[in-house]
Amino acid sequence: MHTILVTGGCGFIGSNFIRYLLAESGFDGCVVNLDKLTYAGNPENLAGVEERFAGRYRFVKGDICDAALVRETLRRHRIDAICHFAAESHVDRSIVGPGAFIETNVQGTFTLLEAAREHAAALSLFHHVSTDEVYGSLGPEGYFTEETPYRPNSPYSASKAASDHLVRAYHHTYDLPVTVSNCSNNYGPYQFPEKLIPLMILNAAEGKPLPVYGQGRNVRDWLHVADHCRAVWAVMQRGRRGETYAVGGRCEMVNLDTVQLICDLLDEMLPGDGRGPRRRLIGFVKDRPGHDLRYAIDCRKIEAELGWRPLETFESGLRKTIRWYLDNREWVSRVQSGEYQRWIAQQYHQS
Ligand code: NAD
Ligand code: TYD
Repeated sequence: MHTILVTGGCGFIGSNFIRYLLAESGFDGCVVNLDKLTYAGNPENLAGVEERFAGRYRFVKGDICDAALVRETLRRHRIDAICHFAAESHVDRSIVGPGAFIETNVQGTFTLLEAAREHAAALSLFHHVSTDEVYGSLGPEGYFTEETPYRPNSPYSASKAASDHLVRAYHHTYDLPVTVSNCSNNYGPYQFPEKLIPLMILNAAEGKPLPVYGQGRNVRDWLHVADHCRAVWAVMQRGRRGETYAVGGRCEMVNLDTVQLICDLLDEMLPGDGRGPRRRLIGFVKDRPGHDLRYAIDCRKIEAELGWRPLETFESGLRKTIRWYLDNREWVSRVQSGEYQRWIAQQYHQS
């Protein structure tokens, strides 16, 4: 791999991945970042990268649904590998407005695959970044594996499932060299503050209400974004073509426990507004429609085949993440300056 096209590189995971790739992974080639800059994409997430890695990083502003642009980008930059992150990624938004999810996640992935097929002679890999949510919801027992049947429940997970199937079909039918990773919930720096962890950190730091959906009994398997980036790169380098790898943190947390831990860590790291422990800010709100109860990943395949394992514990990762959000208030206020609402889901929770 010499020149990798990263789609969605200005988002949360994509920007962490580009920094990792250029600075830490040992990769010495070039990165071309194709991003539409939606509300979730901020060039500031890659501040300093162009200067620090002069000649190795290029940004192309554009939509993955734009077939001519995608074709031209592959050709002009002599792309020989693709790592596809670009997506609409927030479940609550997909409930309020599913159209953009079908457009970007399904049509956009199809457009990329078609361009990749035309460009196949020069392409050594199409890596597709996906989610464990395609497998649906677990009860109190059991784990998702690469063999779990797809049962997506939200418009977001259904659109990601559709894109996974297309990627698989392009391998099966056209022999496109693909790999897929299905990862659990990520957290860490540069995550847009609509997702649980950054939303709760910022609201708790500002003394605002902490809206826990339902009874707060839902379970998520958390993985620090740096561990996810290492997993994606391991799969791209050494994963078997045509294979899927499930990636998780072995870190199941009940939502209420996660929010309480954030409150306690903040009480320690940003002491006292004089009104008592931040747990007082927690409130239970109307549940998300169709809310998946539990996600948990059995990641033995990637551990055994590729020697990957998560390095960050939840508490160490959460401490670093809280520190990052406290130290980057300007980033927070800038990414929130658009039409964005920190709590988009209020549209259905208050109805
Ligand atoms: P994000 O919402 O933070 O970023 C998405 C990026 O894609 C943004 O930079 C946005 O501008 C860009 N984008 C959106 N539509 C586009 C389009 N049509 N053309 C070009 N660019 C477009 O998302 P994220 O949390 O970084 O997730 C990245 C990928 O990882 C997604 O595919 C998501 O499904 C997957 N994933 C996320 C998680 C998680 O916990 N966040 C877990 C597993 C998998
Ligand atoms: P989220 O970060 O939106 O990720 P996902 O829905 O993809 O798992 O939500 C994580 C969990 O936290 C999920 O069970 C919904 C819950 N949640 C809340 O309780 N309150 C909130 O304000 C948000 C955004 C999420």
